[in-house]
Amino acid sequence: MSIEDDKKKVEKALDKIKNRLLVFSGKGGVGKSTVAANLALAFSKQGKKIGLLDIDIHGPNLAKMLGVEDKRMETSADGIKPVAVNKNLGLVSMSFLLEDPNLPVIWRGPMKMKAIQQFLGDVTWGDLDWLIIDSPPGTGDEPLSIAQLIPASGAVIVTTPQEVSLMDSRKAIAFARKLNLDITGIIENMSGLTCPHCGENIDLFKQGGGQKAAAELGIPFLGKIPINPDIVTLGDEGKSFLDSHPDSEASKAFMKIVEKIIKK
Ligand SMILES: Nc1ncnc2c1ncn2[C@@H]1O[C@H](COP(=O)(O)OP(=O)(O)O)[C@@H](O)[C@H]1O
Ligand SMILES: [Mg+2]
Repeated sequence: MSIEDDKKKVEKALDKIKNRLLVFSGKGGVGKSTVAANLALAFSKQGKKIGLLDIDIHGPNLAKMLGVEDKRMETSADGIKPVAVNKNLGLVSMSFLLEDPNLPVIWRGPMKMKAIQQFLGDVTWGDLDWLIIDSPPGTGDEPLSIAQLIPASGAVIVTTPQEVSLMDSRKAIAFARKLNLDITGIIENMSGLTCPHCGENIDLFKQGGGQKAAAELGIPFLGKIPINPDIVTLGDEGKSFLDSHPDSEASKAFMKIVEKIIKK
């Protein structure tokens, strides 16, 4: 098959999806995967049909975060089926493939982009309201080529609150432009921490950098997610933070952000 045929096949696999949202950041470790997973859960709680794609080939971790790392995608004559996280949310992750000991070397070599593209063309997403894509970290050539394999329409940029995040956000915007993406907005993650002992707020990484960046760059600001140690613990245990702590500030923030995105 030619590259053009592969591209068409991917387009066809995506044609019953109403909205495709790429979640990315200027750098790694800012909580991009955490945000992608919790946004997907928040959308699914709103009754939306959601697909989540973990296309990070070097460190795919959404299957672990969502407690489905032992499951496998089923293959039928129609194609490859996402793993069900809940009744509204299906996950396709590179981790399901990469952990296969019989994985062909093609996945690690120079042909890997073509292999990923072929794989994406075989996924049967079905009718979805949103596809949320967790992209590989950074804004370099590899994340760009991977993001190009799965054409998204909108993009959410995740940043932390330090003022240097403005620089990262600039890079992120240039990245979004290269991909012809409509920027839905910026999310400021790890924004403040409520002390579990005294209830006082601690601005561990300062506050407001994401908001400031959004204002300066003329992009919508979607909201702030505070630091919550349970996000780390539950993520490591593969349990849904949003379901375990629906009344926490962080969960409320995720739900509000999703409402904003739906209204757009
Ligand atoms: N709001 C938050 N509060 C507490 N911990 C967080 C928060 N967001 C992310 N984390 C933790 O930070 C680490 C990095 O997050 P991750 O989503 O893997 O980042 P990225 O995908 O950008 O590399 C993880 O251990 C995650 O649990
Ligand atoms: Mg990640």
